Order: sequence, then structure tokens, then C-alpha cells
Amino acid sequence: MSPQQTHPANLPRILSTRSKYLNPKAETLPIDRSGPRIVNTEEAIRHTARQRTGNIFFILLRRAFSDLMVTLQDKSFRNRPNDQACQAYCAMDMDQFDGINALQNWANWRTLPENLNQRLPSAPVRIIDLCCGTGQSTEVLAHYAAPGSRILGLEYNPRFLELARSRDYPGENGDPANVSFNAQSVLETFRDETQQRLPESSVDLINSCGAVGCHFDPPATQILALEITRVLKTGGLATIDSGKAGTSTGHLEEIFKALGFSVLHRAKSCAADRCTQVCFQKK
Ligand SMILES: C[S@@+](CC[C@H](N)C(=O)[O-])C[C@H]1O[C@@H](n2cnc3c(N)ncnc32)[C@H](O)[C@@H]1O
Repeated sequence: MSPQQTHPANLPRILSTRSKYLNPKAETLPIDRSGPRIVNTEEAIRHTARQRTGNIFFILLRRAFSDLMVTLQDKSFRNRPNDQACQAYCAMDMDQFDGINALQNWANWRTLPENLNQRLPSAPVRIIDLCCGTGQSTEVLAHYAAPGSRILGLEYNPRFLELARSRDYPGENGDPANVSFNAQSVLETFRDETQQRLPESSVDLINSCGAVGCHFDPPATQILALEITRVLKTGGLATIDSGKAGTSTGHLEEIFKALGFSVLHRAKSCAADRCTQVCFQKK
């Protein structure tokens, strides 16, 4: 499976399309980094999420409209095998993806911080953001990771990565985080931005938002989990989403437990969320 190349003529349009919701200068409540792990209150997580995302009713409306448009244009990515879902994402324009992903972005600012709370080390860490899309989940990671952390986003669609590279990734203190990207399928060996194979036991946190639960059936998730096990350090965290269309929470936990992971927490963005992100630790 070879990622589709971007025509240079598309670049200005792609780069001009940025998230309409993100306000990096918005006031947030501080994360306590004085102990070995970050500590955040539930109130602070919700406050930051409200500052960084838009109104839920507008988001739901926008997503419904974008979903309708991609379905009418035969670009639907839902309930498709992984290779077909990847092709559907490649066929979308950036506005369509922004609309499709708006609810995911809203959920990311709630689910991921809950899973990281009291679990992510306060010291700088090495992070991989699987299926990072245009970098919206990467923004959440950049906010919560300690200054000096390094984040690598892996994504199949090179056009999404052009937009991802054009974003700012402010840490909590406003300084830019160290973020890089590689265009690849995450069902292949993980590689960094220079195409170097990531070494064994070299990563502290591997994250997936809006991917495994929607686009990976259990056999694909098994392949992904083996590669996660290879690159994650002992004691490292894997925050992986689950859902009915791809790999359910039950299947996900079965796969990771068989590879020697324990379940630390399960997070949902709200009671109505049909997807659960599971926080695993490699023993
Ligand atoms: C719903 S988006 C989520 C993007 C991002 N994680 C976020 O939360 O904003 C799903 C992403 O998974 C990517 N994807 C799906 N299958 C993939 C694969 N096998 N390898 C890499 N990326 C993949 C798609 O291209 C798309 O960008």
C-alpha cells in the first residue's frame, strides 16, 4: 500500500485550511508537574477542553453535514476495510475532513487527558501519535506532555500531514513542542521522519484517537499491537481507542492483555460517547 502523493498545486488550499476551533492562546488551568506523574483535576480537564474546542451543537451539525457530503460524493470511510477507508480519506478535501473530524477533536480534549492524568510522567517523554490525521490529536499530546518531549505523528495520507506540519503545537507553557511526522501505514514497521526504523523499547507513550475503534478489525489491530509492543518501553503506556465499527473494547483488551499489557483505565468523552479509549501499560 503506497501513500498517495500530493499535487503541489493543492498545497496553498490545504495550508489555508486550519482548524476553526483551536484557540492556542486560550486560558487554561495549570497541570501539576511537581511529582513523578502529571496531575490534573477533572474540572481543569473540562475547562481546557472547553477553551480548546467549539460548541457541541455546532460541531454535531457540521459533522452531520460533512458526513452527508462525503456519502453523496461516494467518499464514505465508515465501515470499510482499512485500505478502502485510507483511500476514502485521501479523496476528501480538507474542509470535509475538518467537519468529519470535528467531533473527534472535541472528544480528544476530554478522553485523552483523562487517560493521561496521574499516569503520564512529568519528565520529557517520547510519544507516537498513530493515525494522527491533520494533527488534532497531536495538539492534545503536545499540551499535556512535559516540555522537551518528542512527538512523532504517523499517518497514511501525506496531504493530511502537509496540514499537520503547518500547525503550531504549543506546550502548556506556550513554547512549541518538538513534533515530527512520517507518512506511512501504521500496519507497517514504525519509522521516524528520516525513515529510520524505530528501535525496540524506545517510546514512553503510543496514542490512537479515532482510528482503531473505527478502521481496524481485530486481525489488523493484532498486527498493530505487535509493533506497539516492540517499540514501547517496559512500563510505557498505550492509549488506544476502541469502537463497534473497528475493534471493540473487549477485543482490544483481549489482544493487548495477551501481549502482556494491563488495563489501567478506560475513558469516554461523555456518557453518550460510543467509543472508549483504553489506557494500557506494558508490563
Ligand atoms: C478519524 S481520523 C483521526 C485523526 C486524529 N487521530 C485525530 O484524532 O484527530 C482517522 C485517521 O486514521 C488514518 N488511518 C487510517 N488507517 C490508517 C493506517 N493504516 N495507517 C495510517 N493512518 C491510517 C486516516 O487517514 C485518518 O487520518
